[in-house]
Amino acid sequence: MSDINQYLSEASRELLSDRVEALDLEMLRVVDGAIFPLVLSPREGELTDPTECHAWFAAHGETLREALRDHGTIFFRGFSLRGAEDFEGAIDQAQFKEMPYVGGAAPRAVVTARRILTANESPPDQPIPFHHEMAQVPNPPGYVFFYCEIAPEEGGSTPIVHSHRVYQRFRAINEDFCQKLEEVGVRYVRVMPSEDDPTSPIGRSWRATFQVSAEDAVEARRIAEQKMKEAGTEWRWLEGDELHTITATVPAIRVDPRTQKSTFFNSAVAAYTGWADQRNDPTRAVRCGDDSPVDGEVLLATAEAMKEERVAIPWREGDMMWIDNQLTMHSRQPYRGARRILAAIAPQQELNRA
Ligand code: FE2
Repeated sequence: MSDINQYLSEASRELLSDRVEALDLEMLRVVDGAIFPLVLSPREGELTDPTECHAWFAAHGETLREALRDHGTIFFRGFSLRGAEDFEGAIDQAQFKEMPYVGGAAPRAVVTARRILTANESPPDQPIPFHHEMAQVPNPPGYVFFYCEIAPEEGGSTPIVHSHRVYQRFRAINEDFCQKLEEVGVRYVRVMPSEDDPTSPIGRSWRATFQVSAEDAVEARRIAEQKMKEAGTEWRWLEGDELHTITATVPAIRVDPRTQKSTFFNSAVAAYTGWADQRNDPTRAVRCGDDSPVDGEVLLATAEAMKEERVAIPWREGDMMWIDNQLTMHSRQPYRGARRILAAIAPQQELNRA
């Protein structure tokens, strides 16, 4: 890029100093005049230990949230964050609130007592399609954080795409279908196993999904049913203690209240192309809010557009990526060998300066 500075927002410029700079990597894009994503890195010899780093995050929490709104995602490279505790510390210091992981589809392991999980541990040879985190629940997280503990040997990056760009492309592919989804929203259909199924990308059990710890089978179902009732989910129990669910209607397109930008805030493409396992047929995993079928061809064309618009920065150990979940979709490439990416989420947070 000729001069990255012209693609930085006011807030992101405030983050730059004689200690921290914005990097210009070849794969970066410009979306609506802003660099996507913003890549921050300490200058030579600066912020060389975790304590200094944490102090920097403590001093810039609010500005970082503004920069997230302006750029959609911030990628941090070269900060001295060595492991799960340091990663958690950075998020804590920047004052992101805590949020339990309830209602997601992916199998995960808990890493720290409070807020760090492993990223989706679904099988390495399968890609995870683009999605907003937990787009299928009523209150999805405002932010998703990733940290690279062990860099993948081959593949395994976490591509991102700006959701407003996806919306623009989706609308251009088929305006009528776009308008329909804007009006009626979508519903998701998923069959959940009784126990976590690590061979499936949507193998999270209903017990884990609804955080049911009761041993007693009747009591366990009662708790799950209560949570589904609250969420407006329709359900029926299947053989083998599996659970067939249809979510309440949720919006497919959302307008980000801070930027007034329309976003492709749904899991329609992800569900239609990726929710496949022995229990689930992906072509039936999403339907329109009026229960009519979706236009699969448009969704497939939108998936292609996402590929064209995506940015994939190969992970290096210690890298961290903060995603504004309202504005950015993420995915995962298949990989081989070891890989350990940690994840955390936080709720939407009001900005003090509009
Ligand atoms: Fe995700």
